[in-house]
Amino acid sequence: MTGIARSQADPFAPDFLIDPYPAYETLRALGPVFRLARYDVWAMAGYAGVEAALKDWKTFISGEGVGLNGMNSALPKPLTLQIDPPDHNKGRRVLGRTLSPGVARKLRETFQQEAERKVSELIDKGTFDAVADLAEAYPMKVFPDAIGIRPDGREKLLAWSTFVFDSFGPENEMLAASRKAGLAAQSWIMECCARDALQPDGLGMMIYQAADDGEITEHEATHLVRPFLTAGIDTTVNGIGNTLLALATHPDEYRKLHQRPELARNAFEEGLRYDSPVQTFFRTTSREVETSGGVIPAHRKVLLFMASANRDPARWDNADRFEVERSATGHVGFGAGIHACVGQMIARLEGELIFGELARRVKTIELTAEPRRRLNNSLRGLESMPVRVTAA
Ligand code: HEM
Repeated sequence: MTGIARSQADPFAPDFLIDPYPAYETLRALGPVFRLARYDVWAMAGYAGVEAALKDWKTFISGEGVGLNGMNSALPKPLTLQIDPPDHNKGRRVLGRTLSPGVARKLRETFQQEAERKVSELIDKGTFDAVADLAEAYPMKVFPDAIGIRPDGREKLLAWSTFVFDSFGPENEMLAASRKAGLAAQSWIMECCARDALQPDGLGMMIYQAADDGEITEHEATHLVRPFLTAGIDTTVNGIGNTLLALATHPDEYRKLHQRPELARNAFEEGLRYDSPVQTFFRTTSREVETSGGVIPAHRKVLLFMASANRDPARWDNADRFEVERSATGHVGFGAGIHACVGQMIARLEGELIFGELARRVKTIELTAEPRRRLNNSLRGLESMPVRVTAA
């Protein structure tokens, strides 16, 4: 324990969350491992340490919860995310099959049609709120449709996932604010995951197919549809919103994208590196760990600052610059190792298609007022972003 730096920073406080990047620089300078005195936890903010910890699932386990306070009690018995091998393998296998590159290829046409429809509508409007009308509207249409859930009540999806992501952090004002609406949405969410509520040809029903084949139980199937609704919407909404803000505030980079729309997938990937939707997750040490920065005792919470790792100048040239032509491969915005985001093919598809369509059809995007932040204990995103677009 000796030699490990201590920080008084509160990474869950509003003034930290509004612009965490200068604070991340300070935290990285403390060394590979440091302690957050306020929460009595250990932490890593540099790329090398965060990536290695994400990949070392035997030492940095998820089975005691990936939030501050042990298992996230907002979530029922886990089948992914907060579970370790061998128990993790079964749910991961079923989800991985459901969210495979082959499935993403099949969804491409419908996702593309919706991107075209959405961008046409926004060009007609000229000025709009890029959060409500685009970053939320597009994923909230295509992904729930792909899962096969009912069209009414979808606004509850955001209330639910905002609450879940808040509850990975401490009992603070953000969690208090999102709890009521989140809990109110919970029964609707679970109803949507039931076999009877799902369209016969959607991704949700593919999970029940695994139950029909005897691979998982009916009960497990219900709980494997739920992560789609918890982890698959708000993350993508914020990924699209954050990338859009980066493009709107870097007109030279948007011009490059406009000139070469085939950069869309790359630009989205860079957006996820530059301003990561999921900023942090916790792990718990299964044993005493000797790191180059000192010893972390066994059974301690360790906060992994993924968004800081994605800005670490030791890993990235011009780490604080948003560059649509950069190869952002290797960023940890989707995590890494056995828990790496199982929905990343779908998220990338959405990003590629919506930014590709914007790039082709829109010449300029500019802010017409200051964007407003939506603060959350784990997610980084926006409440509103008023913009004006000009057609190409
Ligand atoms: C895992 C981010 C979209 C489902 C993760 C993890 C991250 C992440 C960082 C790792 C968690 C950990 O290591 O503890 C993102 C981002 C997205 C996105 C930034 C959008 C831009 C999606 C989508 C789905 C999804 C569309 C679809 C259902 C999941 C699931 C896990 C996961 C189920 C847990 C995997 C496991 O434990 O094996 N995601 N995600 N995510 N993600 Fe995503």
